[in-house]
Amino acid sequence: MNATKNETTKKIQSHRSVRRYKPDAIPSDVLEDIFNCGIRSSTSGNMQSWSVILTEDPENKNHLYKLHWQQEMILQAPIVLTFCSDMHKMRRWVQQGQSRQSFDDFLGFMTGAIDAIIAAQSMAVAAESHGLGICYMGSTLWEADKISKALKLPEHVVPVTSMVMGYPNEEPEKRDRMGLSAMVHREAYTTWTDTDIESLFEEKAKATWERFQSWDNFDHLVKKYGIRNSTDYYTCDGKYSKALHQRVSEMYIQLLETKKMFL
Ligand SMILES: Cc1cc2nc3c(=O)[nH]c(=O)nc-3n(C[C@H](O)[C@H](O)[C@H](O)COP(=O)(O)O)c2cc1C
Repeated sequence: MNATKNETTKKIQSHRSVRRYKPDAIPSDVLEDIFNCGIRSSTSGNMQSWSVILTEDPENKNHLYKLHWQQEMILQAPIVLTFCSDMHKMRRWVQQGQSRQSFDDFLGFMTGAIDAIIAAQSMAVAAESHGLGICYMGSTLWEADKISKALKLPEHVVPVTSMVMGYPNEEPEKRDRMGLSAMVHREAYTTWTDTDIESLFEEKAKATWERFQSWDNFDHLVKKYGIRNSTDYYTCDGKYSKALHQRVSEMYIQLLETKKMFL
């Protein structure tokens, strides 16, 4: 697999998440071009069962900043985009047509969620092609109930991801990735031995540890969470702990019920 790179693939492969931004606004024609890339994305059944909330008002951004675990980039970047699985429009249309409802279930939610993620990534690539930077925010899921309330999401609409977007005020290093051998299976999934797993994650383990060690509060975190290695770091209470996963899983299932995704 040695495809010749073109301008688009070079751009995609030079992606870095940007977490420091200039205050400069994104020109409205540029933003419209980016939104149109989201809209042209593939979408299940051409139903476009997703939506995006644009937040640029400083007060609203400040509110989202608090909900998203005070990630500074929200205050710096001129806009925050929250992408939602949105069966609301489709379900209303089906209702108006007095047709049988088909989208009031887990498959309906997933269909909208996949559409939303595909549109988000098209917009991320479009933004980067305009010289903008982006960073996704996992805190969208962690606080999905509060974010839904802040954005006044109606029934059958739930947030699945968000990103900040703006002109970069940093040039981050490219982060490590596992390569083709870790990600691509030919014809059927090849299972891994323990040694395979160790070697697949070797570079990531080293890069994660080096990055972690460079932080000012490294010693403090190591002591506080008893971290011995990269995997300890990934699952410690300060990162992706079991407690976080349990709380968010329960809250999100409850949110799907509250928003009547399954009714
Ligand atoms: C769904 C998703 C959620 C993410 N959430 C956050 C986040 O809350 N805060 C953050 O700083 N970066 C977040 N990121 C960015 C990842 O940390 C980043 O993509 C990863 O470390 C690889 O770095 P790179 O994008 O610079 O290559 C998120 C990325 C994804 C895809």
